[in-house]
Amino acid sequence: MSPDMLASPDIAALLDGATYRAGDPFTLWRRMRERAPVAWHEPDVFPGFWSLTRYDEIKEVLRDAGTFSSSSGILLRPLAQGDDPGSNRTLALSDPPRHTALRGAIAGWFAPRNLRMLSDFLDRTARETVRAAVAVGRTEFVTEIAATLPLDVVCAFLGIPDEDRPRIVEWSTDAFCAGSAEERSLAHLEILDYFAGLVEERRARPGDDLVSVLAGVRHEGAPLPLDDVVLNCDNLLVGGTENVRLAMSGGLLALLDHPDQWDLLRRDFDATVDTAIEEMLRWTSSATHITRRATADVELGGQRVRRGDLVVCWLTSANRDPAHFTDPDDFDVRRTPNRHLALGTGSHYCVGTQLAKLEIKAVLREFTAQVGEMRLDGTPERLDSIVVNGLRSLPLRLTPAARRG
Ligand code: HEM
Repeated sequence: MSPDMLASPDIAALLDGATYRAGDPFTLWRRMRERAPVAWHEPDVFPGFWSLTRYDEIKEVLRDAGTFSSSSGILLRPLAQGDDPGSNRTLALSDPPRHTALRGAIAGWFAPRNLRMLSDFLDRTARETVRAAVAVGRTEFVTEIAATLPLDVVCAFLGIPDEDRPRIVEWSTDAFCAGSAEERSLAHLEILDYFAGLVEERRARPGDDLVSVLAGVRHEGAPLPLDDVVLNCDNLLVGGTENVRLAMSGGLLALLDHPDQWDLLRRDFDATVDTAIEEMLRWTSSATHITRRATADVELGGQRVRRGDLVVCWLTSANRDPAHFTDPDDFDVRRTPNRHLALGTGSHYCVGTQLAKLEIKAVLREFTAQVGEMRLDGTPERLDSIVVNGLRSLPLRLTPAARRG
């Protein structure tokens, strides 16, 4: 049997949300790394694509934006959904020179000065949110902490006025979690409509927020069209909330499942927290995959990829590749080195990296300081998405830490 035929049932399972809800796609990825690390998947509901599961080939693709383009989309979409509306318009879905112009503006805004301002706001919000949860003695961690905190931060950097935040919170919750696809897409349309109004306002009266920066971006001598600015705002809202929520909640569950690692972190927070966050990112790898389209014929892992072919990089698999991580299925808060690909690599490397780490750190700091004992208060549920891997719910019981002194 050819490697492609060996891989096909495994790839089909990776395209089924039920695999992720059940919680162990890792066995499939391990088998594919060993037997068919670069395997062709015939078109079905999804377009045909090359499936990449090893660290080396994935890094090679992500580091070569000239040969592997982002502009037609970066997520696997069923053929029936057609092209991604953000194609060639958002930061993530563009190639140079457009990518360079957008990246300069957005990455520039996340300079240390603005991050420091966000970090004060974030520390305060984390302290109050965790204090409220500890006072009640229980929390549904995903919805009450991991979802709300990043959303508050995104609203702050996009300059969304306080009085509008409840609406954004409600639409974002519905856009991610509502029961039906119709409700989810209606909530999403509300968000796009809201941003259209906000962008017009900021074009008339610019502030020092990121929406104003985007509203002022010029490309090829002209301001970006309104729709492009709106789609970029929407991407920041989604990028800035969804992955942080999943990394934070999946990371906390890993600490619960590995009490020795939780003890290590509590005992020596300052010395351990940075490596612990990297390990949480590697372990959760919430963005399961990123796609690219080949712009030229190229050889990859012994296979001939043709110009125009779609390539799927399974980041979660790369982050468990034993060729790069010793004992990859162990959760080790002191792991070094830890060159995971959870935030991508190359020119599209996550622009929100520092902010995401600050957010996770703030919550960990408050948990280690304020919580004495934490345990599960029910069974955590997982999402059934093929795009993001992680928890839908994480019910916890919390007891306060003993007062010091
Ligand atoms: C733990 C949290 C996060 C994870 C796991 C994550 C993951 C990723 C990954 C894998 C990429 C690379 C995409 C590619 O190569 O095509 C990326 C890019 C991006 N992320 Fe994040 N992200 C996180 C947090 C954030 C935050 C907080 C923001 C917003 C402030 C954000 C905004 C973006 C944007 C705008 C891009 C596109 C960058 C570009 O194409 O140049 N992300 N992220």
